[in-house]
Amino acid sequence: MPSTTPTVQPLTPPAGSKINFGATVTGINIENLSDDDFNLIRSALYTHQVLIFKSQSHVSPLAQYALTQRFDPLAQGSYGHGASVPSTKKSILHPDLKTIPHQPQVQVIGNGFVPSYEGLQNIQLRHPHHKTFHATSIPQEDDLNYTRFYRWHIDAALYGLAPPVVTTLLAVKVPSGHRQTVRYDDGTDQTLDVPLGTTAFISSYQTFENLSPKDQEFVRTTRVEYAPHPYIWMSGAKSRPDGLGMVSQNLEIPFSELPDIDPFKIQILPMVWKNPLTNKLGLMIHPSAVRKLHLKDGTVIDDLAEAREIVHRLQRPGISPEWVYAHDWEEGDLVLFHNRGVLHSVVGAFAEDEVRLFRQCNVAASGFPKGSGEEVPVVA
Ligand SMILES: [Fe+2]
Repeated sequence: MPSTTPTVQPLTPPAGSKINFGATVTGINIENLSDDDFNLIRSALYTHQVLIFKSQSHVSPLAQYALTQRFDPLAQGSYGHGASVPSTKKSILHPDLKTIPHQPQVQVIGNGFVPSYEGLQNIQLRHPHHKTFHATSIPQEDDLNYTRFYRWHIDAALYGLAPPVVTTLLAVKVPSGHRQTVRYDDGTDQTLDVPLGTTAFISSYQTFENLSPKDQEFVRTTRVEYAPHPYIWMSGAKSRPDGLGMVSQNLEIPFSELPDIDPFKIQILPMVWKNPLTNKLGLMIHPSAVRKLHLKDGTVIDDLAEAREIVHRLQRPGISPEWVYAHDWEEGDLVLFHNRGVLHSVVGAFAEDEVRLFRQCNVAASGFPKGSGEEVPVVA
């Protein structure tokens, strides 16, 4: 690859958008990163949260892993959900992930049948459809043109393993597609025009800034307790139509029916996570895995429906159309995102025979995200 000067170009928001994050990076050889290159990427990532590298089809799973791991050199190098989760059949994550045998931190995700890829043979991929996860769904006759945010989330096990610092996504195969309209269907008539199969991102810093001073004080001093084995626990329940957390119908798997629960693995994390470069605070809550809230004065909100309502009220303004970046995937796009600074969601639906193949990588972190420094420590 010819040597060129690395450049970081912030995204230009499309008409009607107010997004103030995301950038395109050029002039970097990901297969052979110098320390200077990496320092530039690191600084750009914590400034812009989502970095797009075009024309990276040649990048190997090993180089993808190396870039991802370099953000957290002390991490043990296991996949962000651990080695066992994708094979745990009850987990809601199980159908969505295939592990590359020679690089187990890298997962293949997508849609359709793939005869052979990186040591995987005859794999059937399935792009998740909101009708399998949401309490309500878009009528079949509208399903081609309209869609939903599937599930807003952080890539994180939220039980035992610490949330990965970054995630990388490489688009290996992308079917050419039409556009779709996301419907929020949450009592508002909000919609967002998106490319088919987009990945949607929002900035946690913007979500925090949008809050009133009173709510900012609340989120700075409140901690979120996540359910044990959250992806199994929530597997009986259904999502809100905006993909931002669950509806409360007492359909979660009872703790007595979950795998053994180790109380030391239960996570109580700050509601706001501090950016390691800018020190900005972002509202970082994985809404569908919330179990309880721990307030500054020691009060614990353990009514699940109440905790969810509070979290939804705080997070919902942040996913309004003007704050969402919907990436228009092209083959060879490598997207590196700050998994502790953005929330993201799968969007859209593919036909059975539309083949889409992505590689995803993240690693469970060596430590937990920092809060504002003002929160009251809570012991599990
Ligand atoms: Fe994800």
